[in-house]
Amino acid sequence: MKLAKIQFGIVIKRLNMPQNNPENTEKHWKTAVFDLADNAAYQIWRTEKLANYPAQRNESIVTLADMANPQDREIEQIVSNCQKFNMAIYQSQGPILPDTLEKFCLALGLKTMETHRSAAKSGVVAIEQTTIGGKGGYIPYTNKPLSWHTDGYYNAPEDRIRAMVLHCVRDASEGGVNELLDPEIAYIRLRDENPKYIAALMCPKAMTIPANEDPRSDYRPDSVGPVFEVDDQTGQLHMRYTARGRNIIWRDDAVTDAARAFLTHILKNDPLIVRHKLQSGQGVICNNVLHNRTGFIDASDVGDTRLLYRIRYKERVSPI
Ligand SMILES: [Fe+2]
Repeated sequence: MKLAKIQFGIVIKRLNMPQNNPENTEKHWKTAVFDLADNAAYQIWRTEKLANYPAQRNESIVTLADMANPQDREIEQIVSNCQKFNMAIYQSQGPILPDTLEKFCLALGLKTMETHRSAAKSGVVAIEQTTIGGKGGYIPYTNKPLSWHTDGYYNAPEDRIRAMVLHCVRDASEGGVNELLDPEIAYIRLRDENPKYIAALMCPKAMTIPANEDPRSDYRPDSVGPVFEVDDQTGQLHMRYTARGRNIIWRDDAVTDAARAFLTHILKNDPLIVRHKLQSGQGVICNNVLHNRTGFIDASDVGDTRLLYRIRYKERVSPI
């Protein structure tokens, strides 16, 4: 079988498809990688993927001289980190307005923001402790720990969250540490342990989130779907997951139980989990990776409490 390299450094095999469209080729290649019947494609991709990882272990942070006027090499570095690890951490200088963050994201191919009940007009959600309005009572807006999840795990397929940005305006005086794990690494660990785990988690009825009938939110029907799926729009792996113990209905099946238990083990122990407390001016841009947050304690002064801006997007990070 002939092999070729494309711009992302991923080895691809030539399939029966038009060769003049790299995007199409990449899409079909990824579909083969995540097909349990194609172990050869998976092994090639897995080797390349894991070989990229030592750099990320050093938590290389991309320094942005001026977020309002990003330089090509800064954008390239973030895109490249997202292509290899599905995430990039950056350090910006000085105070950043939500508008600046939004414009910066545009340069990363992120243009379609989700509509969220707590989003300001700009689509930016302020993550901070509050009991007011639609945010009140929801864990992200308290100082409690947040368990592992991908964003929008309860969304309908047409509203998939493919990327998100968390920008730290002010960090907490204690705690508020994020852990992040590339879903492709979780996939590799599960498939290497037992391919049946992947089959179970790709089942269209693997995980159900019951309808949200909370009057503070828009009504949302039951969300039924797999944990892992190949996104039909991008050909990339999409992960839909929450470690929440309550109000989640898992498919009643022994292999699904075992797969969930192994995933829990990965999320406690994997050496490629990134643990990082975002400092003021720092942020993470990612293709909706698995993440959590430790609980935190705020400084007592009003106006000096932990504040992050979050934007969720329907596109993945990509070169424009
Ligand atoms: Fe989240």
